[in-house]
Formats: sequence, structure tokens, C-alpha cells
Amino acid sequence: MTVSLPQLLASALAGMLAIAIPSRAPAQQPQPEAHPPLYLGAAWYPEQWPESRWDADLTLMEQAHIRFVRVGEFAWSTMEPTEGNYDFTWLDHAIDDAARHHIYVVLGTPTAAPPAWLTEKYPGTLRIDENGRRDGHGNRQQFNWANPKYRELARDIAERMAKRYGHNPNVIGWQIDNEYARESYGPDVQKQFDEWCREHYKTLDNLNTRWTTAYWSESYTDWSQIPIQEKYGNPGLLLSWKRFVSDTWRSYQKNQLDVIRANADPSQFITTNMMGWFDGYDHYTVSQDLDLASWDDYVGRGHLDPYRNGAAHDLTRGFLRKNFWVMETQPGFVNWAPVNTALDKGEVRAMAWHDIGHGADAVEYWQWRSDLNGQEELHGTLVGADGTPVPLYSEVKQIGAEFAKAGPALAGTSPHSQVAILHDYDSRWAINWQRHNQNFDPITQIVSYYKPLREVAQSIDIVQDTAPLDGYKLVVAPGLEVLTDAAAKNLIAYVEQGGHLVLGQRSAMKNGDNGLQPERAPGPLASLLGGRVDQFYAIDDKPGDTVPVTGVWGSTTSQIWAEQLSTSKPDTEVLMRYGKSNGWLDGQPAAITRKVGKGRITYIGAWMDDAAMLNAAKWMTKISGVTPAFGPVPAGVDVYPREGNGKKIFILVNFNKAPETVALPSPMHGVLDGKTVSAVTLAHYGVAVLEAK
Ligand code: GAL
Repeated sequence: MTVSLPQLLASALAGMLAIAIPSRAPAQQPQPEAHPPLYLGAAWYPEQWPESRWDADLTLMEQAHIRFVRVGEFAWSTMEPTEGNYDFTWLDHAIDDAARHHIYVVLGTPTAAPPAWLTEKYPGTLRIDENGRRDGHGNRQQFNWANPKYRELARDIAERMAKRYGHNPNVIGWQIDNEYARESYGPDVQKQFDEWCREHYKTLDNLNTRWTTAYWSESYTDWSQIPIQEKYGNPGLLLSWKRFVSDTWRSYQKNQLDVIRANADPSQFITTNMMGWFDGYDHYTVSQDLDLASWDDYVGRGHLDPYRNGAAHDLTRGFLRKNFWVMETQPGFVNWAPVNTALDKGEVRAMAWHDIGHGADAVEYWQWRSDLNGQEELHGTLVGADGTPVPLYSEVKQIGAEFAKAGPALAGTSPHSQVAILHDYDSRWAINWQRHNQNFDPITQIVSYYKPLREVAQSIDIVQDTAPLDGYKLVVAPGLEVLTDAAAKNLIAYVEQGGHLVLGQRSAMKNGDNGLQPERAPGPLASLLGGRVDQFYAIDDKPGDTVPVTGVWGSTTSQIWAEQLSTSKPDTEVLMRYGKSNGWLDGQPAAITRKVGKGRITYIGAWMDDAAMLNAAKWMTKISGVTPAFGPVPAGVDVYPREGNGKKIFILVNFNKAPETVALPSPMHGVLDGKTVSAVTLAHYGVAVLEAK
């Protein structure tokens, strides 16, 4: 490995600070040991520092109970400095050195940052942006994810890594690439997209009919005429493009995944770091080939919103319907928000336990140490550019000690929920392309159901609309605007088998081609409901434009959106009605429900405030027999149940400024302090980890 100027500087600095730097011990086979049930980690970039510094870093990590580092995901130019000239010795050493400090390694394939020689020699691998401009070297993610040559090169480096480290006992897993995000729009991709359309629609007649291309003379007589449209275009085409993008990310990933799987021990997991609510591709499509879902959880500006962030955790847990990892999170602050505020003292710890509570088994801080140069110099870290800990280090050390202590109790446990919220990328895209009211944000809509339901049930799963639903007492679909035939079948079967399905505003307006259903919403579910949406209205946010709504959930107003419902069966009950407003809605049903055998289906057409939604959540959970996972807690205290292996664990976090006392439903064992208690008092950001006896 060549030594760069920053490395020389670092080494000089380390010397100035008189940090004891032991000379490298000869490489030794790492000793396998028990894997911790909860992993604390850091993103470490040894390629930026001289090897003589590594031991000091790893010592500081070990002292903070850091049990894994993610390494390598941007290090292509260090692994392969020139074409075909590989250098993995530094990585061998980094993995061995980490092992000596009882630190495992997750290896990132470096394909999100192709080296300069590659982009220079193979300019065809560079992506073409939305404006037709070819990307260049100097940042990252400049590659074209559909380019065969890029895939060949990416596969080669991934395969070399897998052959070298696939059976290294200190390597516990693989991260493919980093945060898939940027597509390419050149003629080669256009051709692949047209081919995708041909495969999916078989004939142009079929495509033309399903996209209603007679509209605006869009009819196609040749596959090559189909353009790429991203934001404004034929809804069928827009949705097909997104599905193509998702399939292409899946095959981009599979290209590397296959060679890793062929060469790695099955105990090494394969993941990629996703991005919570990011909707650039369908995460269900892409995650189905992975062993583990993981995501990068950043607050950015301000403070943690336990509901919106908690829902993103539950969303990620739903990709593979099992525990997941937080592959990156902010050590205090980021460098990319409009104001890069720091999380308060204690908030990073509260957030770490909030992560674990939602089913994370690992929390990794990005990044370990400030880079001496590079685009992210000012980002939060645990160690400064000078190589000594920043103030947050001691809080992270406490988290590490607590993870080590609580690990055995949490081993084999995960969240289990009686309530599922359905989530679907097609629907989010469809709503965003035609919001109808600019304030109709699909994520806000999901959270408007998630928050009150979580307050009542204390644990929620978020799953795809085609996921198995039979274990749930209540299934809520807030904005399932696109209802595919497969999802419709799943939902009908769920209700017929005794489940309670609640549909929110805009449900099932559209079919799997993003076209309107030929019957009124909720389309194929309307006859089960014994009712339908007669008309939808966008509600302006001008004073006086909100629509009053009254009924079993109290009196409130409908904002953003209001659907005029009607009933068609005598046993369909009206739960809420609109008051006087635009004339059309006056006195009309706003929420209706119908019992179907042992099951039930409910439709909510109004966008109500938090108080009414809480009443709605209480009503729907009660009528469905949902019981709270823990019991009453003061507002602002979050409770996270995890169970398994015959254990029931409850994590409590107080997000209120004032201390809160929580009476426990039964005496419990305090996992962190070893005391058996029947009540706990939590300071601001205070945490308790309790095991039910
Ligand atoms: C993530 C990315 C990291 C780092 C981080 C900074 O999106 O994966 O490499 O850039 O953001 O917040």
C-alpha cells in the first residue's frame, strides 16, 4: 500500500500526540469466539491511515465495546490501484488487527466508488444523468448500474474479495455496494427498458390497452418508441420504469451476490445498506435475495422523531420480516443537512436503544474518525482528525457496555405484533406522481395511522400488501392506492378468514398498471365493504376550508383530503359523517365498516387529526381484540417489546424533558442494573431494559 500525504500527516500528528503505537504483530489466524447478540459498530477506513496508527484506533474501539467494523466499501482504488494490479495485504492486516481486538468485520464491496483508471478506460460505464450529461470522476456513484462492462468489473472485485475472505472467521458478513440510488438514462438503458416492457407486456396491443395510450396519441407501434419518463408521464409507463429500475438494482446486486455466495461460508450474511423511507426502487424486490436487511438511519437536522423513525425501522424489519441492522447512524451530527445540529447529550444513547427496541441487532456509527480531507470532513465521528476521542465517545462507550450486558437477555428475541400496516412502493409512487393535493404526502399519511396505533398496541409490523397476514388481528392499509390482483386476493382472503382490514384514504383507486380501477374505489374490495367512494375532494389549507367530521371517534375536521362514501348493503355501518362544508360532503359518510362473517372491513375517507386518529386506533384495536404489548405508559415514553427463546423483554425510553415514572404490569428484572422492580423512573432520554419474570 502506498503512503499518501494525508497518511503522512496523520502519522506525524499521532506522533505529536504521543500515542503509543505498537509495531504490527505478525499476522495470525483470528480466534473465533462467541458472536455478541447485539453488535456495536463503526465504519472504519483503514485505507486512509498508516498501518502504524491502526492499533491505536482498534484499542479505542475495543475500549468502547465496539464489536464490528465495516471496512472497504469505498476502497476500490486501494484494492486495485491500477487495472489488474491488486493489493489486499492492507485489508488482510486490517482484518487480522481487528481480530486481535475482538472486533469482527463486515466487508463492503467497493463498487459505489469506481477508481479513476476505471472510469477513464471504460467511459461507457459512467452513468448518464436526467439531463443527458455523462457523469465523471471525483464523487461517487458515477457508474451506470445497467452497464454490462461495469457489472463485469464489479463482479470481478467482489469475487476476489469473496475468494480471499469468504472463509475468514473474523469476517461475519458482506455489504454489497453502498446505498443504491442513482440510475442512468442513456440509450443503452432505454433499450433495456423497452426490452423489459416487451417481456412484461408481451404485445404492444396489450401494453397500449393497459396504458390507455390512445390518450394524447401515445400509442406505440414499435417497442423502441417507448420513452423513459420519470416524473410526469403516462402513469403506466412511470410505474413500469420504476419496476424496471427496481429489477435492475436487483440484478445489479445479484451479479455480486452470486459470486460472494459461491465463495463464502454460509454463516457470513449478505446485506446492503438501504435508506429507510427512500423510494428510488422497490425495496421488497431488491431485498428478497439478501440474508439480512439493513439501513442507514440519519436524523439530519433536529431531533429524533420516535414515530417517523420508528416506522422506518419497522418498514426495514418488514423487508425480510425479521430483525435487521442499523448499518450506519450519526455520531451526533451529519454534514449534509441545512443545519447540522447535534443530537443532545443522552439522545444518541436513547436512539440506540430505540433502534434495538424496533428489532435492530446492531448499531453502527458512521464514521469512526474524521477524514483528514474529502467531501465529508465536518461529519460527526467518534474520534477527531487528531486521533483522540470526541465528547460523544464516552456516551457510545456506555452504549457498548450496555449492549454487552443486555446482549444475552436480548439474544433470540424480536418484536412480535398483533397489528400490521401495509406498505407498497407502487402506491407511494402513484400518489406522489398525482398528489392531487400537494400536501398529500404518503409517508405522513402512513405515520398518521402508525403513531396512534403504536401508542395503543405498542408494537406494529409494516409489511408488503402481499405478505402473509394470518397472524394479525388487525391489518391497516393507509394509502394503498395501487391494488394489484395478488394484493386484492390476499386482502379478501384475510377478511374472509376472520381478520379486520382497515383501508385509509385513496385505497384501491388503481390497478397494477397504475390505471384507474373500472369500478369505484375500493375497487375489488367494494363489494366486501358494502360501500364505495362516490367522490374524492382535495381540501385546501386555507382557513375555513377544512371539513367537519363527527361520529364514534369524536368531532374533528378532515384536512388535505375528504372522500364522500356511500353504503350499498344494509349491514354496512356509518362510523363518521361529514358536517356542513362544500355541499357535496354535507351529511355524507366519512368512515364506514362492515362485519363479514368473523372478519370485518372498514374504510376511512377523511384525513383526521391526531386526537380523532387516536380514538379511531382505540376503536379498531378494541373491536379486533388487539391487546397492548406492555400496558399504560405516560405519553412521551416509548415502549419496545421483544420476545423469543422463552423471554419477554421490554425496553423503555423517556423522550420527555421531565422525568417519568412507569408502573410495570408485573415485577421485572432490570437487565442493566440487575434490580427487580415494579416501577421505574426515567430521566430525560432515560432507558430501562426489563425482563418479565
Ligand atoms: C451515508 C453514506 C456514508 C456517508 C454518510 C454521511 O449516506 O452511506 O458513506 O456518506 O451518509 O452521513
